[in-house]
Amino acid sequence: MRARVKVKPVIGIVGMGYAGLPVACLFSKKYTVIGYDMNRTRINQLREGVDKGGDFDKKYLLRLQRHRLHPTSNREDLMQCNFYVVVVPTPVDENNQPDLTYVISASQTVGQVISKGDVVVYESTVYPGVTEDVCVPEIEKVSGLKFNRDFFVGFSPERIDPSNKQHTIFNTVKITSGSDDRTAHYIDSVYGSVLSAGTCLAASIKAAEAAKILENTQRDVNIALMNECSKIFSAMGIDTNKVIDAAATKWNFNAYRPGLVGGHCIGVDPYYLITKAQMLGVDSELISAARHVNDTLPEHIVNRLVQTMADENIPIKDASVLILGFTFKENCPDIRNTRVYDIYQRLSLHAGKIDVVDPIADPTQVYKEYGLKMTPMTTALKRTYDAVLLCVRHDVFSDFDIRSLIRERSVVYDIKSFLSDDLATLRM
Ligand SMILES: NC(=O)c1ccc[n+]([C@@H]2O[C@H](COP(=O)([O-])OP(=O)(O)OC[C@H]3O[C@@H](n4cnc5c(N)ncnc54)[C@H](O)[C@@H]3O)[C@@H](O)[C@H]2O)c1
Repeated sequence: MRARVKVKPVIGIVGMGYAGLPVACLFSKKYTVIGYDMNRTRINQLREGVDKGGDFDKKYLLRLQRHRLHPTSNREDLMQCNFYVVVVPTPVDENNQPDLTYVISASQTVGQVISKGDVVVYESTVYPGVTEDVCVPEIEKVSGLKFNRDFFVGFSPERIDPSNKQHTIFNTVKITSGSDDRTAHYIDSVYGSVLSAGTCLAASIKAAEAAKILENTQRDVNIALMNECSKIFSAMGIDTNKVIDAAATKWNFNAYRPGLVGGHCIGVDPYYLITKAQMLGVDSELISAARHVNDTLPEHIVNRLVQTMADENIPIKDASVLILGFTFKENCPDIRNTRVYDIYQRLSLHAGKIDVVDPIADPTQVYKEYGLKMTPMTTALKRTYDAVLLCVRHDVFSDFDIRSLIRERSVVYDIKSFLSDDLATLRM
């Protein structure tokens, strides 16, 4: 039996979250897509054309659903598919160890619906080896089918950047790979048929898995370098972002910016690589150090704010502080693993009153996940503060008159270099 290269692909997406939905939309350009998610609420929202990530508008989602896209929470609907794409979460646990339970359970789901000749492509970010060593045995066990005889697999890392309007799934080259030569070319051709930006066929599944983890680890390490330099420069009264602007005039300088590293990817994926390195007995000192630098940045930010307030004779215990932005990145409602919460928690040990304002985040979700009651923007606008901490660079904050919110003696800490020089007292 070989991969069904002659049969038109019917795509089954397993996991219709932030990353799965764009993949489903991409394939819907040409193929029938069954978009399966075990979360009924998510499926009901998608059926109504609502994307919680805000990347796709209602009209577009409803139009796709009149044609080829079929969101469902009924696993049996996947049985009509012959080309499965798994895009489920790959978080870490409380000890920063990879949590593979979602990819394992998604593989078991695929094992229940798969037929001879079918192909399964993983898009979840994992360390090299997970697809073949962890996921494939689950499919084999549940389906009774034999890998690379009855079914075939591939890995094609998801590279989307939610809320980024410039670089989308539709205009970004996609890495592909397959469990044998014929499958690799087949998978590459299926992705290539819907992607105008083209594909890059990797040397192997492990190389494709490693490429994704390298992309994100590179970002993490470079941001950590900027964060560390920022600590040194700010101790000297130098604005790091201005240093980077100057350095970036050299042709081989890469302009990474200092800042918080949260979310589901950059702050998580390097731990997958660190774990794999440990399994192999290989040292990953630099990657681990970068994680430490980025994970401890909230502490540094709070210490610096508290020290500056003390220097300015602003009594911190009676102070009222405004935190602007709660999501893990700009213009994106995703609050998973946001480091602003770490700032809030640490600052709570010092400051009398803290208001957190984020017009992009869902207040109900923030309360549910963090037990934090956000302050509505309209309420904050009627108050004044001893300190303002701008944590996330949402476009909407550019219309915010911060000057009218600060008391005569106050500190404005702009960690995203968003505010004008005369307004920002502190920067990274
Ligand atoms: N969000 C991003 O920006 C991004 C970018 C690139 C890569 N990725 C990677 O994509 C993967 C998915 O991340 P995400 O952000 O889309 O997560 P998400 O939480 O937004 O979505 C995952 C979805 O999968 C569903 N799900 C979980 N287990 C399932 C199962 N067994 N069967 C069916 N549905 C299941 C969940 O209900 C959820 O809706 C991760 O590996 C992540 O690292 C994410």
